Amino acid sequence: MNHQVSKEQGDTNTGSLRSAYVEKLSETTRHWLEEDAKYFLHQALSTPVMNVLVKTEGAWIEDMQGRRYLDLHGNGVHNAGFSNPEVIAAVQQQLRHHLAFTPRRYTNIPAVELAKKLVAIIPDELTRVLFCPGGSEAIEMAVALAKHVTGRWKTVSYWDSYHGNGFQSSSIGGEEHFSVGMGPMMPGALHIEFPNYYRNPWALEEEEAIDEQYLRQLKIILQRNPDIAAIVAEPISATPVVPSQSYWQQIREICDAHGIFLIFDEIIEGLGRTGKWFACEHYVTPDVLVLGKSLGGGLLPLAGIVTKEKYNVLQHRSIGHFTHEKNPLSATAGLAAIHYIESHELVKNAATLGDYL
Ligand SMILES: Cc1ncc(COP(=O)(O)O)c(C=O)c1O
Repeated sequence: MNHQVSKEQGDTNTGSLRSAYVEKLSETTRHWLEEDAKYFLHQALSTPVMNVLVKTEGAWIEDMQGRRYLDLHGNGVHNAGFSNPEVIAAVQQQLRHHLAFTPRRYTNIPAVELAKKLVAIIPDELTRVLFCPGGSEAIEMAVALAKHVTGRWKTVSYWDSYHGNGFQSSSIGGEEHFSVGMGPMMPGALHIEFPNYYRNPWALEEEEAIDEQYLRQLKIILQRNPDIAAIVAEPISATPVVPSQSYWQQIREICDAHGIFLIFDEIIEGLGRTGKWFACEHYVTPDVLVLGKSLGGGLLPLAGIVTKEKYNVLQHRSIGHFTHEKNPLSATAGLAAIHYIESHELVKNAATLGDYL
């Protein structure tokens, strides 16, 4: 089987449209593209780059030739906008306090305040927070927590999903791009199909009947695997597919009946994008909610998990032993971004625009 990266992305794109685009760039821009290609280790989906940015502001990105593009993608980090002035001011103020890092076993006020704020805006049952630098790591923590609490080790997740580039997270993800050539991936990482109402393989039209077919795959797996620790999914697939309410309600019931963790990856869609603070509010409360990307205010790397009080039982183990676990600068940026989203009613705005679209 040919495991080439898709032609639209990465080093494999040697098409004429791509070269024509690069040829039109200024000499200075092309110089920096060459320097980038010379010094970075090449990898698909990152190399070669398309252009050089000199500014990212609000919803806009700007290149060296002064061209501005509306960034509808934003890598999921710009819920409060790139270079948000309130977020920048808060981080500058934090730097003036000379508290840019706290070594392990010390805490700091921004980290505590961010955890407290998240607990306040997240569904009631989720009360315990753990931070880390990136989304892939947050997924690792969520799965590790589920394994420790349940004493089981298998997972069920979805084909074609992406949950990060760590070993567990790429095993759980459903794209072969991140696992081919790696030898055996995490044992017990089982996959099913994500519900797709528009292109379901049975040509069914009723949501209920379609859900039943997709859930059948999970039920067969459960009959043969009593040792599932967690089901891991984006509640709304960023690809994008929006499952029915009943689909997640039934999965929630299955998880409760079998003692399985439901882990929702809201690294992209959390923090207001779906017209509620968190996408799970459209559906059911998971056992672990995973956040990232915009959590750092579009300025700094920050991710984390929020889980239930009853799972605060791992005092004897470390599942997220990260140097930047409670980075005060990242926490300040996150807190300022949440305040900005709140005071500018961006969650309501997302709902309004969503309805309009
Ligand atoms: C849904 C989802 N989960 C996890 C990740 C991994 O996050 P990070 O790139 O911060 O490791 C991403 C990143 O694109 C993502 O989109």
